[in-house]
Amino acid sequence: TIHKNKLIAGNWKMNGSLAANAALVEALKQGVGEPACDVALCVPAPYLAQVQSLVAGSPLALGAQDVSAQAQGAYTGEQSSAMLKDFGVRYAIVGHSERRQYHGETDATVSAKTAAALSNGITPIVCVGETLAEREAGQTEEVVKRQLAAVIHVNGHCISEIVVAYEPVWAIGTGKTATPAQAQSVHALLRAQLHHAASEHAAGIRILYGGSMNAANAAELLAQPDINGGLIGGASLKAPDFLQIIAAAR
Ligand code: G3P
Repeated sequence: TIHKNKLIAGNWKMNGSLAANAALVEALKQGVGEPACDVALCVPAPYLAQVQSLVAGSPLALGAQDVSAQAQGAYTGEQSSAMLKDFGVRYAIVGHSERRQYHGETDATVSAKTAAALSNGITPIVCVGETLAEREAGQTEEVVKRQLAAVIHVNGHCISEIVVAYEPVWAIGTGKTATPAQAQSVHALLRAQLHHAASEHAAGIRILYGGSMNAANAAELLAQPDINGGLIGGASLKAPDFLQIIAAAR
């Protein structure tokens, strides 16, 4: 299997404004050069059109933070994968822990959203990860395996088209990063599960780490054999920090 480039994806979450986005994307375009990795910006839905035009012709790809499981119709407030495709969206985060926690998303929802993204050629970035209570109860392996299993057999689509993101909930926005060894050990479990389900594709599926990744800790995390990129929240809002993380991904 051809090993793909690493992927560094910024998740802006519910942050930004027309003015702040323009300044951030300009600074990224100035500094990014020809990156050795793939780079994506997952922006709030109202700013997809703005950022689509800002990143045109640059190495920065456009991403969304969620996608509807439905194709179209009476689903107030939702955005379909076809609509995202209309705006040049290449990636969509699916099943982020904040959506699981605050919006009641289940493994079944995440599976349906993954299928919806794939049906329009959008690469889902499927998030898995345990809470602090689950880790302390020794349930990390069971939880992440259950979450990954939900998207492994998505009808009619090849597992090699997805990206997985391991985001331990206790490390998100807390400044408390998983150690490289802690992250690698979970990534290795996920890789083994992918290998079991689709051996010929497992090595090429990118497994990102997310959770307080920053300019100072990125290089060490990204040097782990099964860490193929990062999903970055807070540090993706500061151009110098995000650029340093991109430079660390080779
Ligand atoms: O999706 C990225 C994320 O949840 C990590 O956020 O702010 O800890 O980098 P942060």
